[in-house]
Amino acid sequence: SPTVAVIVVAAGSGSRLGHAEPKAFVLLHMRPLLDHALDSIFGMNETVQIIVVAPGDRVADARAIAAHAAARYAAPELALSVVAGGRTRQGSVDHGLSALLPSIDVVLVHDAARALTPAALCDKVVAAVRATGHGIIPGLPVVDTIKRVADSGAILGTVDRSELSAVQTPQGFPRAMLVAARTWAAANGRFEALTDDAALVADAGHPVTVIAGHPLAFKITTPEDLERADLLLHAAAP
Ligand code: C5P
Repeated sequence: SPTVAVIVVAAGSGSRLGHAEPKAFVLLHMRPLLDHALDSIFGMNETVQIIVVAPGDRVADARAIAAHAAARYAAPELALSVVAGGRTRQGSVDHGLSALLPSIDVVLVHDAARALTPAALCDKVVAAVRATGHGIIPGLPVVDTIKRVADSGAILGTVDRSELSAVQTPQGFPRAMLVAARTWAAANGRFEALTDDAALVADAGHPVTVIAGHPLAFKITTPEDLERADLLLHAAAP
């Protein structure tokens, strides 16, 4: 049985992308974003349980996409399930956690919107969780100069970017740590304030470490991001 699970959260509406369809179903090179995102997981060296969290009214569609993606890989002991998401990202993660197999001791939470994430990054997160026992999140140094700006446009200050990291997914945790942190957050009313999994785990007092992320793990949020993903795929396979 697998000891690692990847929860692929794909239940968002993706309204900033400007499509009527939920983001995971928007086509990129004639394949839904979710299909691309699953390549990052099926391509891992580690044999994993995959839990896709889909919009409530699109579970059957997501199941068909997942089955189609699985068929591209020779994955005999494949554990793959699709569950309905929640109103918030955290709710969706909860629904995903409820599907974990008993054998799982490391959990990765991954945004389907980071559709071009290299599988090697997912394996690296697993290895780092195992090596440290910490929560592990990939991040990239911030290259732009970052200003704090008032509503009026007035500059309030420049942030020291040397201590900043733009964090990505998959975010990996020992299963017990993630579950304990979520219980703590629920008991202390912290769910509203902390939208990312790592913030929640750190807030509950557990160690979380940033490792080097990958430029291809960028999140497809806007139409420009989708265009960039399209160009990158064209460059890779014209
Ligand atoms: O909206 P945003 O792009 O930040 O969402 C990040 C990820 O969380 C996306 O992959 C989205 O599908 C997922 N999500 C979810 N359930 C929600 C809201 C967002 O699974 N209710």
